[in-house]
Amino acid sequence: MTQDTLKMPEPSIILGLESSCDETAAALVRRLDDGNVEVLSERIASQDDKHEAFGGVVPEIAARAHVERMDGLVKEVMDEAKVSWNEIGGVAATSGPGLIGGVLVGLMTGKAISLAQDIPFMAVNHLEGHALSPRLTGKIEFPYLLLLVSGGHCQFLLVKNLGEYERLGSTIDDAPGEAFDKTAKLMGLGFPGGPAVERWSEKGDKNAVDLPRPLLKKKDTLDMSFAGLKTAVRRAVELEPINDQRKADICASFQLAVADILAKRSEQAMRLYKERLGSEVCQFVVAGGVAANKSLRARLEISAAQEGFTFASPPMKWCTDNAAMIALVGLEKFERRQFDDLDVNARARWPLDSAAASASPAYGGGRRGAKA
Ligand code: KG4
Ligand code: ZN
Repeated sequence: MTQDTLKMPEPSIILGLESSCDETAAALVRRLDDGNVEVLSERIASQDDKHEAFGGVVPEIAARAHVERMDGLVKEVMDEAKVSWNEIGGVAATSGPGLIGGVLVGLMTGKAISLAQDIPFMAVNHLEGHALSPRLTGKIEFPYLLLLVSGGHCQFLLVKNLGEYERLGSTIDDAPGEAFDKTAKLMGLGFPGGPAVERWSEKGDKNAVDLPRPLLKKKDTLDMSFAGLKTAVRRAVELEPINDQRKADICASFQLAVADILAKRSEQAMRLYKERLGSEVCQFVVAGGVAANKSLRARLEISAAQEGFTFASPPMKWCTDNAAMIALVGLEKFERRQFDDLDVNARARWPLDSAAASASPAYGGGRRGAKA
């Protein structure tokens, strides 16, 4: 089925669906006359309680939970915004990268709505959602330098326009969010680990535990590494009997190590950005779940000021996984008539800059191609 002939009412409300990891989410957005985007309603159903016992996301449990919640969330956002089907011009769903069982739930729901309501369908790259999420606030124009830092990803991207991304560097192994989650799991602090580690850090001494900053001595790259840091945290946990103060110290020291790595590499990335794009528009944007970390944000804000960049980060609710960012990408694609056919597949791996990812599959590379 080709989507070119479908009806396209203007201006239109776009429905966005997200289910690539452990948040089931739906949102409605529309473009306002002043060019800004309005989020009419949004719902996020967290699955934290379902995964907590395992200290990480269990794909099969996640997929089942998405199935149970997705259609109910669509009804809830429509009811809240008092929007009927004939006011919705298009539907967008995350089609990857992510846990394939979960991705399929949102994707199939989106396709079914497209077919039943005879409206265009937009397949959205989850990473593109994070990359454009700061634009939900209405203040960020292209181009900008993005640090995307989440549970599955860590990369610097030149964001030039919708669909135009250049990866400058990325983690060569684990993502920082994963390291936060593992740190919390090792000490039984709860799931998701990021907010727990952040809370415990407040009572800790950030200089108490000597932890490595892997790869940071290498100055000719923007790549990063967090696997060695994770191992060092495990050793620190096992080294001596653990009490609450030691837990807090490890958390604070770990958080500082992550901030050091990200801040140093961000400063380098900003310098490279200026070499590439000049210093006329210098915006540094941080997005993704780990960007919710307050001390990290504060640290990166200092780095940005030092390099002559403005700093922006979406509000917390749009840093972690959400459907407003997916609906936004859907809206931007819709306005450019970039519709997808209904035979589009779910993709576990889907790098934003495929050229860079193929040349150097720094993270998640493998037989099935680069993930990020
Ligand atoms: O973007 P996101 O919701 O999902 C992915 O696409 O990965 O990010 C989730 C990650 C988790 O690893 C979580 O522990 C981390 O973001 N995170 C945080 C904080 N809030 C969430 N990490 C550090 N500090 C936080 N406050
Ligand atoms: Zn995400």
